Amino acid sequence: MKDTPINKEVVKRKLAESKISNIGKASIREIKRLINEIETETGEKYIRMEMGVPGLPPARIGTEAEIEALRNGVGAIYPEIDGLPILKSEASRFIKLFLDVDVTPENCIPTVGSMQGGYASFMTVNRMYQEKDTTLFIDPCFPVHKMQHKVIGIKYEAFDVYNYRGEKLREKLESFLRKGNIASIIYSNPNNPSWICFTDKELHIIADLANKYNVVVMEDLAYFAMDFRKDYSKPGVPPYQPTVAKYTDNYILFISSSKAFSYAGQRIGLMVISPKLFSTKAPDLKRYYNSDIFGRAMIFGTVYSLSSGTSHSAQYGLAAILKAANDGTYDFIKEVKEYGEKAKIMKKMFTDNGFKIVYDMDENEQLADGFYFTFSYPGFTGEQLLEKLIYYGISAISLAITGSERLEGMRACVSLVDRKQFPILEQRLKLFNEHHKIN
Ligand SMILES: Cc1ncc(COP(=O)(O)O)c(C=O)c1O
Repeated sequence: MKDTPINKEVVKRKLAESKISNIGKASIREIKRLINEIETETGEKYIRMEMGVPGLPPARIGTEAEIEALRNGVGAIYPEIDGLPILKSEASRFIKLFLDVDVTPENCIPTVGSMQGGYASFMTVNRMYQEKDTTLFIDPCFPVHKMQHKVIGIKYEAFDVYNYRGEKLREKLESFLRKGNIASIIYSNPNNPSWICFTDKELHIIADLANKYNVVVMEDLAYFAMDFRKDYSKPGVPPYQPTVAKYTDNYILFISSSKAFSYAGQRIGLMVISPKLFSTKAPDLKRYYNSDIFGRAMIFGTVYSLSSGTSHSAQYGLAAILKAANDGTYDFIKEVKEYGEKAKIMKKMFTDNGFKIVYDMDENEQLADGFYFTFSYPGFTGEQLLEKLIYYGISAISLAITGSERLEGMRACVSLVDRKQFPILEQRLKLFNEHHKIN
């Protein structure tokens, strides 16, 4: 092996010591730990692209509101399980102003990160009808959602959407739904890891089939309004963040505050249940809950037993952030646009040096530049590439852990890469390209 930017002996030893049997299948946290250790021993800084964490300071309005709430003593008081009234009403305003969808404050429930919203939804939705006990993942996916299924013991099926964009999505979805066992469909949009964004046509197809087969659509908007090709930043003014909620009344939306408001540390998100689903009566729920009404089972059964609601001060923080966004005094999209600008530069560095972008189109449109991008290098699987790149001071994750069938692919997250590191990234990619000639 040629001379690499990171000491080969150290990498080899750390890889062996990590006891990770297959680096390509390692979890994001395992890779993070491995890279931390190599950095500490060698003193060399990596281009860290493995973790999807915000790289910006938290929304200040939220921090101030939380401090004030804590000073006022909310720390001693249990919050309402279904959320602070002020947060619930700002949330329903937010849904109207940024999605152009009507929900009541009752339908908006804060959760401990949108991660908990997912967990609570998987649990409750899959118990509504005895014969519907399986979730359908439109992959690639956020791997923790599948882990949640395994932990709870819920079945899932999945397919990679790569070859089923546009009208082709209909038949593929229907091939699963017509079996009758699917309770819900989940996907993230923009998608983690691939950054594909469903078109309105595709969202329409998902909704049509959800209506036809009485399936709940769980739309994970963890990267809310972060498709920077369009300007979704003006409250109450089109265009709006595209959503399946426009075309079906059988949905749950997860709105994370982690990325859009850089508020990951406070672990607060929103679960928005469509008015119709909220009031749906499903007698089979009685097997697990006191109520057979979905919204009540969710709040007084699932959310109560998971965490008795969400941190009181964080709710004040999020309420203040949403109010400012709704009033048009806080342009949260302007703050996060930096991710898209960095992605554009970084993607070019990769493609200039022999790498390919794996997921590259939304039907006929070039993919947006955003929080993540996917890449490959001729002649390598994603797993092999991940290991190789560690020697070049570049860390990312393999798409193999996301349900993607593009096994040559890797996911890069741009958030933690400082612009000052761009020359080093370029140098390392160039060297990799020189060492691995493409025929
Ligand atoms: C697609 C997706 N869903 C959910 C989450 C979790 O969000 P939260 O921090 O609000 O729990 C993430 C975080 O990376 C994500 O990428």
